Amino acid sequence: MEDLAKKHILLGLSGGVACYKSAELCRLMMKAGATVQVVMTEAASRFITPVTLQALSQRPVYLSQWDERAANGMAHINLGREADACLVAPASADFIAKLAQGRADDLLSLLCLARPSQRVPLLVAPAMNREMWAHPATRRNVAQLLADGATVLDVGRGEQACGETGDGRMLEPAEIVQDLVAAFQPKVLAGHHVLVTAGPTYEAMDPVRGITNLSSGKMGFAIARAASEAGAEVTLVAGPVGQPTPRGVARIDVRSARDMLAAVQASQDRATVFIACAAVADWRVAQPGSQKIKKDGSGLPPPLEFVENPDILATVAASGRARRGELFCVGFAAESHDLLTHAQAKRVRKGVPLLVGNIGPDTFGQDDNALLLVDAVGVTEVPRAPKLVLARGLMTEIARRLAAKGPAP
Ligand code: CTP
Repeated sequence: MEDLAKKHILLGLSGGVACYKSAELCRLMMKAGATVQVVMTEAASRFITPVTLQALSQRPVYLSQWDERAANGMAHINLGREADACLVAPASADFIAKLAQGRADDLLSLLCLARPSQRVPLLVAPAMNREMWAHPATRRNVAQLLADGATVLDVGRGEQACGETGDGRMLEPAEIVQDLVAAFQPKVLAGHHVLVTAGPTYEAMDPVRGITNLSSGKMGFAIARAASEAGAEVTLVAGPVGQPTPRGVARIDVRSARDMLAAVQASQDRATVFIACAAVADWRVAQPGSQKIKKDGSGLPPPLEFVENPDILATVAASGRARRGELFCVGFAAESHDLLTHAQAKRVRKGVPLLVGNIGPDTFGQDDNALLLVDAVGVTEVPRAPKLVLARGLMTEIARRLAAKGPAP
């Protein structure tokens, strides 16, 4: 998906071993549809050559404020004006100190200062030794950058080039791209806490077998990512799926419907929005075997009895906070036929203000889907699109309904 289509990113490199990751970062941004203009400090060019970044970005790299290619002699003004965002990765301790002081003695720091800051956000991806990252001077400088409106990305944890282990290494390129994409999304859910269920549940028959379904978790994970991009704090309660956790999302892994209900109930008091996207198994085996159930030679299947699972969505929707309007509940309906009729009936039966209908066999495991939004007022058809695009649209729909109700509690 071209998440950075039509975006022009100024990628600045300051000096640090992490410059080797910036080559991959440049490639990933281009793959996501961006055009990339690279600017390097003199120190950065000691770690990676401008030729590599020129080849990857398909544009000449700028190194100096005295560059004669700019017809008006003002590369520092032109480059900042042209960009949709300036991303400094890696941002060394020294470069962060420079930005914090507003110094401008090389092209990259000059253009960070000269860019139209209301229109062109500045993101920095710090990269340094753990002692430098923890030093009070760096803490002070980072706080100043935040106060000045820059976005300071997190740092990675683990082994560092210096042989030490701790906080301070630069995030991986794919993580930085996710954070950059998020920076462009409107913060329509800022101040909200969104609780999401995703994936299937697994109901054990015995220690080695169980009942589950084909839900991939992709839609629920896309919703968690979109909610986080929209500025919400997000808790994702996930059944057994192999999806990667979206950045900034707190994930709780569960297996059975009852585990999922317990995890949801532990988080629901802090939530302002609950989105039940999980394909919860309707039934579980009443008495799962404590040992593997063996064939007994009769040719007959084991006499399994089933009991109904708790309805997580209906339970949450019936809670005091949901009924008082402090927790906005959204349900999903996976149907195989008569989507509109079933979705309308399900919305009323579950007692939720908004229900999202889809055709189960058309969505399970797919990267895209089509939705039907059903509320008390009517029905909106959302045409087929990638799940992340649908999830972002759904966040806008939820935010619109929340705004109509008043500010976040
Ligand atoms: N749901 C839930 N707990 C359950 C069953 C469903 O929270 N035990 C939620 C789902 O996450 C979804 C909505 O309820 O948001 C509808 O799920 P769906 O499987 O479509 O409906 P069911 O309630 O199972 O009804 P039916 O099987 O009759 O279609």
